[in-house]
Amino acid sequence: MTGQTEAAEALTANEVARIKADFEILEHQVNGADMVYLDSGATSQKPRCVYEAEQHYYENANAAVHRGAHTLAVEATDIFEQGRETVAKFIGAKTNELVWTSNATEALNLISYSMSNASLGRGGDAAARFRLGPGDEILTTELEHHANLIPWQELAFRTGATLRYVPIAEDGSLRYDLIDSLVTERTKLVAFTHVSNVLGTITDTRRFVDAARRVGALTVLDGCQSVPHLPVDVKALDVDFMAFSGHKMLGPTGIGGLYGREELLNAMPPFLTGGSMITVVDMEHAEYLPAPQRFEAGTQRISQVHGLATAASYLDEIGMQRIADWEEHLGALLYEGLSALEGVRVFGPVDAKRIGTVPFEVIGVHPHDVGQFLDSRGIAVRVGHHCAQPLHRALGVTATTRASTYLYNTEDDVKALIEAVASVREYFGV
Ligand SMILES: Cc1ncc(COP(=O)(O)O)c(C=O)c1O
Repeated sequence: MTGQTEAAEALTANEVARIKADFEILEHQVNGADMVYLDSGATSQKPRCVYEAEQHYYENANAAVHRGAHTLAVEATDIFEQGRETVAKFIGAKTNELVWTSNATEALNLISYSMSNASLGRGGDAAARFRLGPGDEILTTELEHHANLIPWQELAFRTGATLRYVPIAEDGSLRYDLIDSLVTERTKLVAFTHVSNVLGTITDTRRFVDAARRVGALTVLDGCQSVPHLPVDVKALDVDFMAFSGHKMLGPTGIGGLYGREELLNAMPPFLTGGSMITVVDMEHAEYLPAPQRFEAGTQRISQVHGLATAASYLDEIGMQRIADWEEHLGALLYEGLSALEGVRVFGPVDAKRIGTVPFEVIGVHPHDVGQFLDSRGIAVRVGHHCAQPLHRALGVTATTRASTYLYNTEDDVKALIEAVASVREYFGV
């Protein structure tokens, strides 16, 4: 985890330009203009080494893992497990504490459905902590992406538990002052995001973890927007589970991860069942392997794991703290530049710590029109509710325009966006 902790020199504009050159797609022209990609919050672009790693796997080592006794199968298994070691290290976990999933959504649903199975009595005494019933509570927040909300609504529905949430204040900051009263002896699970995918704000995770520990509740961190952008160490964060997606951190689509403390993963009943996750099967019942295999039923995503491990090594080599600092700088430029424009409302607290993600509204112009106008100038942003309808409702809007940066974005990208947004109202005659 060399890149996660060091206090290294800041990224320079020259270095960012060199990084950008690793991403062929960023050389594209869109609608006659140089493309400015400010939609990494939705998905990141991939450096050449990531798709070359996938290609290399298919050309040299393609086989099913953990099954065959032949040489190719052994090589594929080595690549797959080496990838697990690399990515586990990247987030500060032990190798057997990382379960592969398709994405963060699947990782969060895995916990939700495993807890349902525990609530049906699966897993015996060891699974007692995962059992929910009427009177028990699940706590989440109003900031969440739907992926860290709906699985808990469904878990509450299936078990009779009650879902509660920490609301946001008018400026979008979390009401930390309410956590202690919302976490009670009945709280069994506290699920919260590390970084808001809409506001880009970084959560004070300690507040949630301390409150949950006080009552013995499990903690689930949505690391989808933090693992790509900040140094993340699950042991230092002291959470029980964390979900993340590979495609947002330079990796391929179709691969994500669930971190879980070893003792919890080994006590939690599985969600998906089938091949490759068992020790003994007879016609009436089956026994399951220890984690992570007990949660990895069926043929796995091997080239994607290799691609993601390559992405993690690429990020690590540059240094996550340096990437975080660069994005904090771009985020501040975005926030200040957009706030200074007449007729533009920027969302999110002024003094928050944030990544380079900033949502805004051009007053009098629908976000979809803003998005199309920007696209006509080659600028890619996301418009809509960003899978966070309750948050938008609390902010008093149905949709926003969101600019989100990554390590390959330059100050010129930010300037291009601000200049374009400055002319939106005139263009639409507002
Ligand atoms: C904070 C957050 N959580 C969860 C998700 C879901 O990620 P995925 O669609 O890769 O499963 C996203 C994706 O935008 C996100 O930003």
